[in-house]
Amino acid sequence: MAESINLPLVIREAKKGDIEGVYKLYQSLTPEDLYMRFFTFHRVSYEEIEQLFSRQDHVTLLAESDGEVIGEATLYDDGEFSVAVDPRQRRGGIGTALVSELIKRARSKTIKKIKFYTLPENYPMIRIGKKLGFKLEFHEDEVVGTLEIER
Ligand SMILES: CC(C)(COP(=O)(O)OP(=O)(O)OC[C@H]1O[C@@H](n2cnc3c(N)ncnc32)[C@H](O)[C@@H]1OP(=O)(O)O)[C@@H](O)C(=O)NCCC(=O)NCCS
Repeated sequence: MAESINLPLVIREAKKGDIEGVYKLYQSLTPEDLYMRFFTFHRVSYEEIEQLFSRQDHVTLLAESDGEVIGEATLYDDGEFSVAVDPRQRRGGIGTALVSELIKRARSKTIKKIKFYTLPENYPMIRIGKKLGFKLEFHEDEVVGTLEIER
C-alpha cells in the first residue's frame, strides 16, 4: 500500500479563486506527466485553465496542503475523468484519495459509469484503477479503466 499521508491534506471542490493554484500545479508537471494527463505534449496555458473553470460540464476536485494545490482530478458529465498530482508529492496516497472522492461525487450525480484512459506504462494510474475496483482493458497503446457506479 502507499505510505500514509503525513501532511494535513484537504480534498475539496475547486472554485474560481483556484485558477492560479491549478496553473502552478500544471507547471510542475513534466512533459511525460502532461502526456499521461492530456494525451498531448503541449504545456497547459493559463487561458485553458480559465476555460476549464468557466465550463459547467464537470466537477474538479483539488488536493490542498498548506494552502498549496498539490493534486487535481476532473470528472466530466460523460463519465470520463483524469487526475494529476504534483511530482514532489507522489506515492503518498493523494492520487488514490482524489479518485476515491470522484467515485463518491459520481454516485451523487446521475453518472452510471466512470472511465479513464491511460498509457500501458502508467503503473501508478493502473494500480489506482485496480485498487478501486475498475475493470481494466489493456490495448497495445492504451489502458481503459471503467467502473459501474452503484447507488
Ligand atoms: C497517476 C498519479 C495521479 C498517481 O498519483 P499518486 O499520488 O502518486 O498516487 P498514489 O500515491 O495514490 O499511488 C497509487 C499507487 O501507485 C503506486 N505508485 C505511485 N507511484 C509509483 C512509482 N513511481 N513506482 C511504483 N509505484 C508507484 C503507489 O505505491 C500506489 O500503490 P499502493 O497503494 O499499492 O502502494 C500521478 O502519478 C500523476 O500525476 N501522474 C501524471 C498524470 C497522470 O498520469 N494521470 C493519469 C491519467 S488519467
